[in-house]
Amino acid sequence: MGHRGTRRSHSRLSATAIYRSNVTRPTLLLFGANGQLGSELARTLTLVGEVTPLTRDGCDIVDVDAIGRVIANVKPQLVINATAYTAVDKAESEPEAARLANEIAPGVMARAANKIGAGLVHYSTDYVFDGRSEDPYREDDPVAPQSVYGRTKLAGEVAIRESGCAHLIFRTSWVYGQQGSNFVKTILRLASTRDELKIVADQKGAPTWSRVIADTTTLVLDSLNIEQRTNWLSEVSGTYHLTADGATNWFEFAREIIALGQRHRLLSNKVATIRATTTAAYGAPAPRPANSYLDNEKLARTFGIRIPNWRVSAAQFIAGLGS
Ligand SMILES: NC(=O)c1ccc[n+]([C@@H]2O[C@H](COP(=O)([O-])OP(=O)(O)OC[C@H]3O[C@@H](n4cnc5c(N)ncnc54)[C@H](OP(=O)(O)O)[C@@H]3O)[C@@H](O)[C@H]2O)c1
Repeated sequence: MGHRGTRRSHSRLSATAIYRSNVTRPTLLLFGANGQLGSELARTLTLVGEVTPLTRDGCDIVDVDAIGRVIANVKPQLVINATAYTAVDKAESEPEAARLANEIAPGVMARAANKIGAGLVHYSTDYVFDGRSEDPYREDDPVAPQSVYGRTKLAGEVAIRESGCAHLIFRTSWVYGQQGSNFVKTILRLASTRDELKIVADQKGAPTWSRVIADTTTLVLDSLNIEQRTNWLSEVSGTYHLTADGATNWFEFAREIIALGQRHRLLSNKVATIRATTTAAYGAPAPRPANSYLDNEKLARTFGIRIPNWRVSAAQFIAGLGS
């Protein structure tokens, strides 16, 4: 039976996720606390528990013994894994590095968490699909990753499911955020330094702000009342799609970024001309799905959460860069 959350919105996050002062707050162990997503989680997860944030210095996840040690020492109720090998093109020539981070480490985390009765929150990718479908992908649609990155991320999902650990796997897509480098920041930089930019227009997906993923994760966890219920995760354990609403393509997204950059005075009127190109002509080392738009209906049905359109988040993110 599914968990039925009340309908929630992101604007209610700070109001709903209030501290429950008369109960012991759950302990959350966060791996990857300085990534695009991890840095947002480190901030927002404090609304649902005591967060122990770990960066590579605190635990290199390639060291499987170190993962086991830190989970056994901290004894969290919940492990959150925001680490990944995310360099999609580089993974084609470094498959073993991608496998260690994306497949082996999540499996080790899940088994170590299960041993102490903890749950696991993990993130996966739209690139587990081959992109041949015309429709938005649902969680139970057949997977067929085309790249090393996609294959190793899928293997990580499988390792978690096989561990028996209660888990939430959130598949997301086209992530950008304040931390690190990403498409939004690259377009803003290149638009003012190049005369022309060629951007792929034949890949469909949903650009998703890491803050939205982190806030949604927090809303989900808040709705589960971790500290007041036993087996709080087992009812809802499974895989969920979690992306911005609405589909676009990289070319349209780039045009929107430039328009927003100009509106917020990050860019002048004189910017690079944006031209549409094809995936084949661009020739990136890793194949990408032509359609990787994900259907978020299961998330909405289970937790009562609807995610805003990608244009809303992009506007908020770029406005924030400008202020
Ligand atoms: N980025 C996207 O477009 C995208 C799309 C779909 C799904 N996702 C998924 O969303 C999740 C979050 O991605 P993101 O965009 O936040 O990635 P990100 O910014 O690249 O962050 C990845 C994090 O993993 C850490 N990490 C990598 N290898 C490590 C190691 N050996 N030991 C310890 N830490 C290590 C990195 O630490 P360092 O900073 O020290 O390297 C960084 O903090 C991932 O599961 C990813 O697969 C991302």
